[in-house]
Amino acid sequence: MVTILRFFKKNDGVTVPMKEAHRTSLLVLKLQKVLNQMKLLYFIVLFQSLIFNQTYKFGEPSIDGIGKFYFQREISKVMGHQGINWLERNSRESAEDPNKVVNNLDVVLTDVVADFGSGSGYFTRKIAPLCSLVYAVDIQEEMHAVNKSLLLKNNIDNVELIIGGHKTTNLPLGKIDILLMVDVYHELEFPYEIMTDIYSKLKTRGRLVLVEYREEDEELMIKPLHKMSEQQITLEIEIAGFSLEKNLDILPTQHMLFFKK
Ligand SMILES: C[S@@+](CC[C@H](N)C(=O)[O-])C[C@H]1O[C@@H](n2cnc3c(N)ncnc32)[C@H](O)[C@@H]1O
Repeated sequence: MVTILRFFKKNDGVTVPMKEAHRTSLLVLKLQKVLNQMKLLYFIVLFQSLIFNQTYKFGEPSIDGIGKFYFQREISKVMGHQGINWLERNSRESAEDPNKVVNNLDVVLTDVVADFGSGSGYFTRKIAPLCSLVYAVDIQEEMHAVNKSLLLKNNIDNVELIIGGHKTTNLPLGKIDILLMVDVYHELEFPYEIMTDIYSKLKTRGRLVLVEYREEDEELMIKPLHKMSEQQITLEIEIAGFSLEKNLDILPTQHMLFFKK
């Protein structure tokens, strides 16, 4: 810029009048400003496309998958309400040690807990007596119908049932102390949208706890798309803004990962 001004001064009155030189330098300044704005815009677009290119890809669906991929992981089909007997099976207590999950949540009586992807309410019923309120969220009406009848049967009245959307949890803002997701994350059709929604709904010091079958355990007789590795879970959850606090490797077959905002 200085060079340009000097050049015009030297030639003042000979080839380019000073006024014109001033106008030209203003034009150059404006051009530089526009260029800088374009550069910024370019980096914003590049950054967004880097994130969203990673987001969802589509391909041939495998037998248990929906043909939609997130960070190379195929998203699993949702477990239908026909699977309630499996969720409520007696052997679950000994095979998965669900009480260990509940005891390690460190729930206090004043807490508001969300049981996200609550299904028939297996965890809802274990948590409700320990806290002030449970929001049980599921996308299937049929799951809620069974959850409701089992809550009535067990005289539990501090549970609010919420029908969630595919991209939104429908949870209230800033009320949740702990959000628990047992055996749900791998089947979220829009994991990024749901996790960012959860991030915005949790209290500032709220915790997110994910329980998923260990992919690292090759002996584990669970459908491949129903298992996840610690590395994959962490990658996907941290993209939504959370950071991993710990993995309590205390369950027989599942990871129990704690995330904070
Ligand atoms: C395998 S079941 C687990 C149920 C329960 N957490 C348990 O461990 O007993 C997964 C549940 O997540 C629910 N689910 C899947 N996608 C969901 C979404 N986007 N929002 C809410 N619930 C969802 C399904 O309807 C199903 O009831």
